[in-house]
Amino acid sequence: MMLEVMKSHTTVRKYTDEAISEDVFHQLIEAAQHAASSNFVQAYSVIQVKDDKKKEQLGVLSRNEFQFSTAALSLLFCADLQRAKQAVELHDKEMVAGNLENYTVATIDTALFGQNFAIAAESMGYGICYIGGVRNNPQAISELFDLPEYVIPLFAMTVGVPVKRNEVKPRLPIEAIVHEDSYRQDKYQDQLKTYDEITKAYYMKRTNNRKDFTWSETMRDFLSVEKRPHLLEFVQSKGYLQNDK
Ligand SMILES: Cc1cc2nc3c(=O)[nH]c(=O)nc-3n(C[C@H](O)[C@H](O)[C@H](O)COP(=O)(O)O)c2cc1C
Repeated sequence: MMLEVMKSHTTVRKYTDEAISEDVFHQLIEAAQHAASSNFVQAYSVIQVKDDKKKEQLGVLSRNEFQFSTAALSLLFCADLQRAKQAVELHDKEMVAGNLENYTVATIDTALFGQNFAIAAESMGYGICYIGGVRNNPQAISELFDLPEYVIPLFAMTVGVPVKRNEVKPRLPIEAIVHEDSYRQDKYQDQLKTYDEITKAYYMKRTNNRKDFTWSETMRDFLSVEKRPHLLEFVQSKGYLQNDK
């Protein structure tokens, strides 16, 4: 049942040595490609990293070596308007894609494609880990995989048969996410208190990587410092985010 598969998602970072065939990989990609796509641009590409040296380097550059070391599939998901640019030029026009809108189109398309891939893989019993860590060194990763203009590494994904599965992390309560008719920020203070208790209990009782932590503390640590300040310049170097005033 699809809903059960989706609700049992947990990130898997260690995999058995069971391989994933090319045929299965292509089935997963085909399913992923059927995600909706803004204006049908299909603004993504994926690099299947087969070369062991490149896989290792991708792990080092993204500072997530562990997941790549046992993964059956190591994939680099790229936001990509290079193909669309060539399509436009077939008709003697130039692509005008240097604004925030086109960057948004490409990143949303890639995320939907990636998440469809993740669900397809999980529905077949595989485990996945997204690796946003690729944005630690996007320029070096670009060079490693010969990524041209308009192709940016957005996230990687490792895939394989799980060695073990973590307990499912409790998500925010539905009432925190859903607003009826108008947005209500006043409800958050109470909800955060409750959610902190729930997440603390989860972190304290889980078998793997037990810690005394709440969700708001993880947000404090994650969001109170500037992250990856090199990203804007990198994204601009690929042709995006140039035209907006
Ligand atoms: C875009 C994205 C990037 C992520 N990057 C990393 C990463 O670099 N390394 C990692 O170990 N997990 C990464 N994760 C996994 C998250 O930490 C994980 O999804 C989150 O803690 C929720 O846990 P769960 O997936 O087990 O429910 C990433 C997830 C997403 C969606």
